[in-house]
Formats: sequence, C-alpha cells, structure tokens
Amino acid sequence: MKWFWVQNMLINYLRSARRIATILFTRSAYGRQYLLRRALKSSQRHTHPIDVTYSIQTSGFIPNFLSDPGVNIAKIVSRENNHYAGCQPSCLRKALRSLPDTNKFAFYDLGCGMGRALVVASEFPFREIVGVDLSKELCAIATKNAQKIAQSFPDRAQISVEQGDATAIALGGDRIVVFMYHSFGRTTLTPIINRLEQLVKAGRDVFIIFENPVNGDLVEQSIYFSRWYAEQVPGDSDEIGHHSDVDDGVVVWRSVNAMPAQRSGHQDFKIVITKPTWRAEVVRSDR
Ligand SMILES: C[S@@+](CC[C@H](N)C(=O)[O-])C[C@H]1O[C@@H](n2cnc3c(N)ncnc32)[C@H](O)[C@@H]1O
Repeated sequence: MKWFWVQNMLINYLRSARRIATILFTRSAYGRQYLLRRALKSSQRHTHPIDVTYSIQTSGFIPNFLSDPGVNIAKIVSRENNHYAGCQPSCLRKALRSLPDTNKFAFYDLGCGMGRALVVASEFPFREIVGVDLSKELCAIATKNAQKIAQSFPDRAQISVEQGDATAIALGGDRIVVFMYHSFGRTTLTPIINRLEQLVKAGRDVFIIFENPVNGDLVEQSIYFSRWYAEQVPGDSDEIGHHSDVDDGVVVWRSVNAMPAQRSGHQDFKIVITKPTWRAEVVRSDR
C-alpha cells in the first residue's frame, strides 16, 4: 500500500516536472516553433469531417503554451488562455438556427483558433464574420481557411481574422453575435462581459453564444442578458470520435433590451460544471 502511494507520487512528480520543462522550452523561439510544428503535424493525422467538406485545416489540439510567446507562465498554468480545439459544428449550427435575421448581425468568435466556428457561421447569412485569436500561427491558418471559403462560396459573408487579445477587439455594428467556445478563464471573460453590457446600455442588440459554458455563470449574473436558448446538444454521428465528448452544452443569451416578451428563455436548464475549469453541461433543472 505504502509502495503504491510512493509510486503514484513519483509518477505525478515526474509528470509535473516534464510539463514544466516543456513550458520552459517553449519560452525560447526555437523551442516553441519546434513543438508547434510537431503539434500541427500530428493534428493532421485525424481529420475532422468539416475539414474534408471544405478542404480546410481546423483539426487537432494545440496546447496553450504554444499559442503566443507573450503570454506569461501564470496564465498558461492556470489556463486563463485556453488550448486550441475546434468547436463541434453541429452544436454551433443548432445555436445559430435559433437566431432571428442573422443577415442583420455581425458574428464575432472570441478565440477563433484555426477558424472552424467562422466557417460554420459562414453557412448563415451574417453581415460580416470576424475572428480574433492570440496566436499568430493559428490566425494565419484561419486566414487561409477564410480565403478558401471566399473562393468556393463568393456569396457568403466575408470572414476576417485579427491577431490579438479578445478583450481588445472592436465590436462594430448595432447587432452582434459573440461566440465563445470556452476560450479563456474568468479574468479575461469578466471585462468582455462588462464591455458587452456597455453596448447593451447604448441600445445595441447582443447575442452571446457559449459552447461548453464553463464560466457561463458570469453571463447568468448579468442583469443585461437573459436566456434565449439552452441545450445539451449531441454531436452529429460523423463528428463522434473527433471530440472528447459525444455532446456539448450550448447556451445563448440575448440582451434584455431586444428580448421579446413571449420568449420563454429556456430557464429550465441549469449549467453544471462536470470537470472543474474544463467542461460544463446543460442539464434540465428537474433532474
Ligand atoms: C477552445 S479554442 C476555440 C476555437 C474556436 N473558437 C472554435 O470554436 O473552433 C480557444 C482559443 O482561444 C484562444 N485564446 C485564448 N485566450 C485568448 C485571448 N485572451 N484572446 C484571444 N484568443 C484567446 C486560444 O489561442 C485558442 O485558439
């Protein structure tokens, strides 16, 4: 029993040491580029169906310590800026189908990574589609994907990609949809919600779509937003095996200034954290 305990402690110690050594290695330009190239290469071994459909590159997992050389180690370790993994298109599509008049709205993906959500949004007639991400390399891939969509579907809304922090992006237009796929932690999300509240106070119509709403409680607490839609959405059968889970929680809020009185708002679902800082599910309140 004692030997088992010592062995476990040793394994955990070695795992932590390896992780710290890897993060330190990525603080040098050479180390980061080397590991990023490797991660991108292995990402291509397991191609998500949406990449096949559109001949784009959005598959795989890129750990957060490879995203931006400027991010400090505390933010990496606490996962304030999250790893890259593309959203489940079926889950986002379900949320987007619940929205009215998307042609009057601009779509923003905060933490767009390689741009999978941007491509899914382009299937809907948005006014414009904008993504922002910390990582220069992921933004370059997202831009390439956007060019492919523009060539193949010239009638779709234009997709643009900016490199930078999501807290600093300009949110233009009277009607906006803000999408997040658990891109960051509470320290980053709080000022973003404050900004969105200012937009609502100024009379703008704002939707927030949160897939895997780990910090969704921060939106729930806001008096400026009310529930529009909530569901635990199963992935399409061809997506299973390309995602760690078979479904994802999706919650949509709309600014109270534009909320129709008759909308019931899916209040009978609650957000439950099933893996701390990692996964949230949307569960019927009576369960
Ligand atoms: C889970 S991925 C989301 C990918 C994309 N939204 C999608 O649905 O396909 C999270 C992304 O957020 C980015 N990110 C994390 N913190 C950020 C921040 N403060 N500003 C901009 N991007 C950020 C990461 O680089 C990563 O690519």
